[in-house]
Amino acid sequence: MSDVRLAPSILAADFERLGESIREADAGGADFIHIDVMDGQFVPNITMGPVVVAAARRVTRLPLDVHLMIEAPQRYVEAFAGAGADRITVHAEVAPHLHRLLQQVQEAGAAVGLALNPLTPLAVLEGALPYLDQVLMMTVNPGFGGQVFIPASLERIAAAREMRERLKPDCLIEVDGGIDRHTAPQVCAAGAQVLIAGTAVFQGEGSIADNLRRLRAAAGG
Ligand code: DX5
Ligand code: ZN
Repeated sequence: MSDVRLAPSILAADFERLGESIREADAGGADFIHIDVMDGQFVPNITMGPVVVAAARRVTRLPLDVHLMIEAPQRYVEAFAGAGADRITVHAEVAPHLHRLLQQVQEAGAAVGLALNPLTPLAVLEGALPYLDQVLMMTVNPGFGGQVFIPASLERIAAAREMRERLKPDCLIEVDGGIDRHTAPQVCAAGAQVLIAGTAVFQGEGSIADNLRRLRAAAGG
């Protein structure tokens, strides 16, 4: 699949030189910069907020793909959009008023994303697809980088692709967690179009650019 997009997750970057790492990813062929926001409530870990998004905005023109792993995300949608988020993904599991939340993201001027945990029923995706620019299929449990890919994700990605083709053909399918040279070909064959990868890009064997090249080659170009 030659049109795969790569979204390096800066969670795995060296935070002493975050700006440089983002510039290297940009120069090395990244398509989006993925920013993982965690609140210590929805997930156990705490990471970055709007100030980090604003800092990333100053060093790259690539789309900033902001993944909100937070409770009550409606409190922060405008803050992240205002900080420069181009694409905002919210989790289905935290949103009792999902229709309203997706509209809020769209009204804030960002592309609208919905993330699903590994066992969240896909029925929510079927209902939400008409409102989505992207769906983020979690292929690990959210909260930490460096985890092992859950193989059963492949069937879910394939099912999401089938729904997408039927209901919203231009909705992108992102995959997030444990994506590397070994899992990339599998998720792409199942229907993934955007590969989010932290460890494989920022902590791989080569330079950031080398790691991006290898990941793209493994994904089939
Ligand atoms: C996990 C995050 C991921 C994470 C991926 O909760 O959503 O974006 O950074 O990291 P790797 O690629 O190391 O699995
Ligand atoms: Zn993520």
